[in-house]
Amino acid sequence: MIKFLKTILSHKNHNKTFFEKDFIENFKYFSDDTIIVSYPKSGSTWLRFILSNIINFKVKKYKEIDFLCSQKLVPAISTDGIFKTKINLNKMIRPRILRSHSLHTEQFPKVIYLLRDGRDVMVSYYYHFKKFNNYKGSLLEFMSNNYSGIDWHEHVNSWLYNQSNTSELLLIKYEDLLNDTKRGIIKMLKFIGMECSDEEVDKAIKLSSFEKMQLSENKSGLGIVASGNREINFIRKGKKGVWQDELGKTEIKVIKELLGNTLIKSGYEKSENW
Ligand code: A3P
Repeated sequence: MIKFLKTILSHKNHNKTFFEKDFIENFKYFSDDTIIVSYPKSGSTWLRFILSNIINFKVKKYKEIDFLCSQKLVPAISTDGIFKTKINLNKMIRPRILRSHSLHTEQFPKVIYLLRDGRDVMVSYYYHFKKFNNYKGSLLEFMSNNYSGIDWHEHVNSWLYNQSNTSELLLIKYEDLLNDTKRGIIKMLKFIGMECSDEEVDKAIKLSSFEKMQLSENKSGLGIVASGNREINFIRKGKKGVWQDELGKTEIKVIKELLGNTLIKSGYEKSENW
């Protein structure tokens, strides 16, 4: 308990989920747990919504899935994720699906790594900061300062290009999910070891559409997360390639220096000529 309290008190910044190393290391995993890992703004709330709907078809607990229900059915391995949702981890349906923004750790039994183009992530994160942290600076200033504490390329490299890779890791790209959501979800369910009918997959995807989730945000809020500036939606654009409209020449230069190599490694670009 004292260790838990120390963990809570020592992580006061907004990105504590990145750094809750103690919490993650002391968490009790089952060997069939799957953790959805992503850098923030890579689409994990969407994925969580779809999977929560699928779990809810089995446990029949909620009339409809909103942000809070999805935070309970697919909880984050963080102090907020566990304590604020008041979930009983041992009563969760098996195999459990959990969520984390952690850097690489060997603690996680099975990992679905959700990857999104770092340039779109950067733009999305900028609006996230405007919404939740009342950020007033420019996009260029935001990108030049490491506000998140950990950069996108650092996170991606730690999970995908690390020497001691997790043995059971499924890589899913946000952009592929946008193109063919059902294909991605079926792949994930197989990896997780969760049975689900074709009709249920279709239904879960429909219930988690961009429009439905935005409606839910506007109607019931963001669950355990405070709403921040309501003029900016959390469920904001939901598209790929928006960086092309948002980044000017100078921003592109900065971002290329930071993320260029990893964008090539992860297949988003063939060379530095973009
Ligand atoms: P944008 O800000 O580019 O719109 P995370 O949940 O990991 O923080 O990711 C947030 C991003 O996922 C936001 O991107 C958000 O709009 C997008 N997103 C959320 N729900 C979505 C959905 N149903 N379909 C597509 N994208 C979605």
